[in-house]
Amino acid sequence: MTWRVPLCRPTFVRDDLEAMLETYRSGWLTSGPRTAELEEAFAHYTRARHAIAVSSCSAALHLACDAARLRPGDEVVVPSLTFTSTVNAITHVGARPRFADIADVTEPWLSVESVEAAIGPRTKAVLTMAYGGHLGETEAIGELAARHDLILIEDAAHACGSWLGERHAGTFGLAGAFSFSGSKNIGIGEGGMLITDDDEFAARVARRRWHGLSSQAWDRHHQATPKYELADTGFNYRLDDPKAALAHAMLGRLDSENARRAAIDAAYREAFAGMEPIRPTAAPDPQARSSHCMFTAVLDEAVDRDRFRAALADRGVQTSVHYPPVHLGVNHAQAHVQLPLTEDYARRSVTLPLFPQMTAEQRELVIGAVRESLVRPVRAASAA
Ligand SMILES: Cc1ncc(COP(=O)(O)O)c(C=O)c1O
Repeated sequence: MTWRVPLCRPTFVRDDLEAMLETYRSGWLTSGPRTAELEEAFAHYTRARHAIAVSSCSAALHLACDAARLRPGDEVVVPSLTFTSTVNAITHVGARPRFADIADVTEPWLSVESVEAAIGPRTKAVLTMAYGGHLGETEAIGELAARHDLILIEDAAHACGSWLGERHAGTFGLAGAFSFSGSKNIGIGEGGMLITDDDEFAARVARRRWHGLSSQAWDRHHQATPKYELADTGFNYRLDDPKAALAHAMLGRLDSENARRAAIDAAYREAFAGMEPIRPTAAPDPQARSSHCMFTAVLDEAVDRDRFRAALADRGVQTSVHYPPVHLGVNHAQAHVQLPLTEDYARRSVTLPLFPQMTAEQRELVIGAVRESLVRPVRAASAA
């Protein structure tokens, strides 16, 4: 099926593709000078001391839990309303997730009260997620974590270009993990970044991303060092140079692309303001700048979400649901855990298309389709 309005769509300008092609022509493909340039630029942009490029956000999250030395028996407080890989990172190191609830059905990020209630004697860390690029209560959770002597790791997969005042996402605790997958604000296919201000932690992440070797292939190639020692164990979580060059070019356009996203977000909010059965989430926060990675809304109880989504699909508009709660899924099932707000949100929320190059015509098509679908018989009550 070809959507008239897909959920998201990455766009590349000529310079992006030229930067990538040039790297292919250079003869150096694996992680090397282009990756180092991207790391420097990303650290500069986010005002972090270190940025370490990796093959995905999932890899960054795993490395963060690994380098933070989380172990079996440790507990990590985490939202259930997240992508499964946030929680996989915790269980990959043998630690146990302690799920906490969101702040409200229109504020779908981890609530500081719920985090506090989930902290127990075995809690070692809190792993937040900037839902849709919104930092929500991250700062307060960072302060809470510091008071309890807990490590804070941020899943900032959605948050390239998300700021709270002068602080970028990923800088509120020990580390932040970003995704460069195709649907994200820097969408190169697969890729990611970890940022931190901690020198020792950064060195461990960088080494273990590269199998634990004492030096990288590029350093040996251009004779920065002849040393090649098996200093540690690790993984192949490298980002390759052509994709690093592409990400670097896209980073240069991030603020303008995010401004386009913000304009679409504002247009949706204005259009839906008078429509009772749909409520946009994450009202703009004057202290913050969101990356607007996604636009989500909650539907009135009376609206049948499946029929609403089918009605939009009939009009060529793709929608999605972010996310099925992780504590109810098979991998990390904790049936005894009750997260009423997360479960309510997961039943009633819908994600609408949002991408920088969306045309005015596409935007109006989405708004029109939502309006028509909500006045037609998608309401459970009127359909009965
Ligand atoms: C919240 C969240 N965390 C982590 C990830 C994993 O990112 P990646 O695909 O780069 O591993 C995603 C990807 O969609 C995500 O949405």
